[in-house]
Amino acid sequence: MLLKISELTKTFPGTLALDGVRFDLKAGEVHALLGENGAGKSTLIKCLTGVHQRDHGRIELDGQDISPASTHEAQDLGIGTVYQEVNLLPNLTVAENLTFGRQETRFGMIRTGRMRADAEEMLRGYGLDHVNVGRELATYSVAIQQIIAIARAVALSGKILILDEPTASLDARETETLFDVIRNLRDQGLGIIFVSHFLDQVFELSDRLTVLRNGRHIVTADTAETSRLDLVHHMLGHELQEAEARGTRRAVGEEVIRVRGLGRRGKIDPFDLTVHAGEVIGLAGLLGSGRTETADVLFGRTPPDRGTATDADGEIDLGSPRAAIAAGFGYAPEDRKTDGIIADLSIRENIALALQARRGWASPISRSEQRALADGYIRTLDIRTTDAEKAVGDLSGGNQQKVVLARWLAMNPRFLILDEPTRGIDVGAHAEILKLIGELTEKGMSILLISSEFDELIAASDRVIVVRDRAHISELTGEQIETDRIIAAIATDDAAQGAAP
Ligand SMILES: Nc1ncnc2c1ncn2[C@@H]1O[C@H](COP(=O)(O)OP(=O)(O)OP(=O)(O)O)[C@@H](O)[C@H]1O
Ligand SMILES: [Mg+2]
Repeated sequence: MLLKISELTKTFPGTLALDGVRFDLKAGEVHALLGENGAGKSTLIKCLTGVHQRDHGRIELDGQDISPASTHEAQDLGIGTVYQEVNLLPNLTVAENLTFGRQETRFGMIRTGRMRADAEEMLRGYGLDHVNVGRELATYSVAIQQIIAIARAVALSGKILILDEPTASLDARETETLFDVIRNLRDQGLGIIFVSHFLDQVFELSDRLTVLRNGRHIVTADTAETSRLDLVHHMLGHELQEAEARGTRRAVGEEVIRVRGLGRRGKIDPFDLTVHAGEVIGLAGLLGSGRTETADVLFGRTPPDRGTATDADGEIDLGSPRAAIAAGFGYAPEDRKTDGIIADLSIRENIALALQARRGWASPISRSEQRALADGYIRTLDIRTTDAEKAVGDLSGGNQQKVVLARWLAMNPRFLILDEPTRGIDVGAHAEILKLIGELTEKGMSILLISSEFDELIAASDRVIVVRDRAHISELTGEQIETDRIIAAIATDDAAQGAAP
């Protein structure tokens, strides 16, 4: 056994994050680590990589007890990690990113020629021959950056590779490329720990799986001998309430917002959109197709430079997010790290924030009012926390995502844009969020739903607009809303180019 973890316990103030957990890893296997938001997956990994120090338990690597005190030490022992957010330096070159911290210097000077050669050598076998290591990392897509991060981690450590939700921001084709890289590394004898909320990917990629629940070890099994149903059951501890597909689609309400020729040069081609009360409009397309750009223009994040949006009262000002919010628009963006949360503030404060900003700071929302608001959303969205005063930065990734969503729901907008609302969110909460979307629209809220998961779009949407190459290319309604049709719309003509950088 390459790695053997036993009786691992870790507490945070008020939280028993890991309770006597065991986990093992063989050389040459992909072992999926699964569980609901807050189950303890990231904590387990952080104890292994020296980010956190465990309270009790043993970690043995190649039969030796280890206690890495830092990520650096873990790396030296052979344990490398790639997190969901690529933790490289976007403004340095690919070569610098691959070699920083390990460059050879000569008379104090880094030898760039040598560095480039090393970098090219490190990328060999990853299918990135077209990457110019002298270019800035930021010029490449997230998918390529992700693979570069893996190459670096493997070169630095070499025994164990840990991937914590590595595919969360990749599209289907990019995910396949990443999987090829992972399989290749596995075949070379690396032990790979794979954390993901995408069950399809778990079944496609992993050899074994381990489920944690509430910080406890629930099961370890061969993936091939585990059914989906069993897996979900282990994760939830009960049966999944099937997300009710909106089979009986209600007639949507009257027209509330009319968008004509709205666009912005270089971002999104002019498009029309008519929004009805209580309607869910799905936006389908590959990563980089123009879905987020559509949302950005509608919310004034990149203000439109042509076209209009109007409602019964006349033209709507989309010149800034502030103006859009004043018009009753809301936007829960995809990237919770940069757009969403303020890690140091409590759950209560994070949820009350946008509402307070809209009301104006002159009429403060009382603390008890804020508290009631937060407690309400902790319940409906099942945010796993000890209480509303906990700093958001201390929540698990998926629970942070739910706080961002709660903040926008608290504003009760008439038109809410949700960009990948279930990304990083576990199966149970996933169903809850879809149910919530249904409830909100019953009350008349209109929703623009951006999602890479077709099942989700199909289950929730009244209409699906397909976006490609920064233009809205087709619209599907009623019976037309099905996976094959969406894929066909996305894939015709220039599909081969897809979302390349
Ligand atoms: N730095 C911290 N301080 C306090 N509590 C923490 C800290 N990190 C994690 N926790 C708590 O430990 C528990 C386990 O969190 P962890 O991040 O390991 O979950 P996870 O399984 O990775 O979930 P997700 O799927 O949402 O990423 C949660 O209750 C979380 O709030
Ligand atoms: Mg996590």
